[in-house]
Amino acid sequence: MRPSVQTLDSPKITSTWPLRVRARRPVSTTSKRAIRIGILGLGNVGQAVARLAADRGATAHAGLRFHVEHALVRDLAKQRHCPKPGRTSVSAAAFLRGQYDVVIEALDAVEPARTLVARLLGRGTSVVTANKALVAEHGAHLESIAAANGSAFRYEATALSAVPFLGTLAARPLVASVERVLAVVNGTSNYVLTALDQPGASFDDAVSRAQALGYAEPDPSRDLDGLDAADKLVLLTSLFGWGRLSREALDVSGIRRVTSDDLAAARSMGGTIKAVVSAERDATGVRAFVGPAVLKSAEPLASLSGALNGIHLDGRHVRNLFFSGPGAGPDVTAATLLDDAIQAASYERLAHERPAAPARPVFPSSPATPWFLRITCPGVLPASSAIASLVGAAGLPVERVADHATGRSRWLSIGPQGRRDVDAAIARLANTHRMAAAAFRRI
Ligand SMILES: NC(=O)c1ccc[n+]([C@@H]2O[C@H](COP(=O)([O-])OP(=O)(O)OC[C@H]3O[C@@H](n4cnc5c(N)ncnc54)[C@H](OP(=O)(O)O)[C@@H]3O)[C@@H](O)[C@H]2O)c1
Repeated sequence: MRPSVQTLDSPKITSTWPLRVRARRPVSTTSKRAIRIGILGLGNVGQAVARLAADRGATAHAGLRFHVEHALVRDLAKQRHCPKPGRTSVSAAAFLRGQYDVVIEALDAVEPARTLVARLLGRGTSVVTANKALVAEHGAHLESIAAANGSAFRYEATALSAVPFLGTLAARPLVASVERVLAVVNGTSNYVLTALDQPGASFDDAVSRAQALGYAEPDPSRDLDGLDAADKLVLLTSLFGWGRLSREALDVSGIRRVTSDDLAAARSMGGTIKAVVSAERDATGVRAFVGPAVLKSAEPLASLSGALNGIHLDGRHVRNLFFSGPGAGPDVTAATLLDDAIQAASYERLAHERPAAPARPVFPSSPATPWFLRITCPGVLPASSAIASLVGAAGLPVERVADHATGRSRWLSIGPQGRRDVDAAIARLANTHRMAAAAFRRI
């Protein structure tokens, strides 16, 4: 990652992967420059890049214009909604024969992206990418190829794609020493929870609304089950230099069990429920989880509505950094990619820089946190004090019973516990009292 701002006499600074800081001498942009780009993939994002690149008004004030030389696709017969690139082909070899200032990678999988990006960086062509999986799995290796060959590799669009925070951190190694991250990184889940936060709203209706507005895929499972958010947490923590979190060890849950009554009960306790990713690291290791959690209303992430994303960072030297904005969408992602492309094309290359360290594997543990528990009874709802005694006897430390209740359900705040103890207590309540429970963490 290159700095966005450097002066001519800045010293050359390097730091370890990721968020690398390297001084670059800006190339003059006083005369109007044409940046020759190649696009790998003309899907939603690739087409948006081609449309924005053709909009002369968008970059005229910066003295720049783009020329899309060549686009690589899988199917030439597909209809595209963008200006025609200089050339469109299905041949990777033909694409690689082209000359580009920057290549924008917008393919939908790790291969052939990894092979093509490695080839381009290896011959000194800069690449910018929106491909999360590529950067999470091969970012360190590709960065080392770029460093050895004087090319730039940029990936601001991979995490909260329209929120330019990675470049900001990359230029500030002290601020970038992140030790805790709490973030809303899945716009679909955030939209669904926002739509669900209405009296009587159903989960299925909220998902249908998200689909109708284009915020959710026809099959939204990866979003609703927390898998997309887990991928993003793995990417973020590796970009913060923590190593590569093991997906198998990560505590992941989705939002399918959240109801509009849960949101009303959380509100009665001064909070709301958001689908978050959370990770904290200290000398003893990394504790992390992905899933719905009750946030206090004072937490800035609690106010994010609709498809917005946000990230709250605490570092060794600076705490309470907060960035928010649109986390996805072809048009905003295209703007970030083209900004990355301008930066990549505007700096002189320095060959033979220190190669990046590969991300080592890290096995996160599931943290002990306070919880928010919904208890649903098969018959008449017992009084608050009776519910609190039963939950306490099942092994959970009750802090408070919410005023909000429905005909069959009550909500309780529980003190800090590990997930395994919470699950065991829920099983005891089901076996002994035929009570159903759903538990959400509290942050
Ligand atoms: N959509 C967003 O809002 C968003 C936001 C941030 C990041 N991203 C990332 O951006 C990337 C692209 O997303 P997208 O939504 O644009 O995906 P998409 O619509 O599925 O487009 C993928 C493109 O890749 C091409 N492609 C796939 N395999 C190929 C191959 N072997 N050879 C040549 N072309 C190939 C496809 O060609 P055909 O069209 O010919 O099939 C298609 O044009 C993904 O990595 C995604 O995670 C997306």
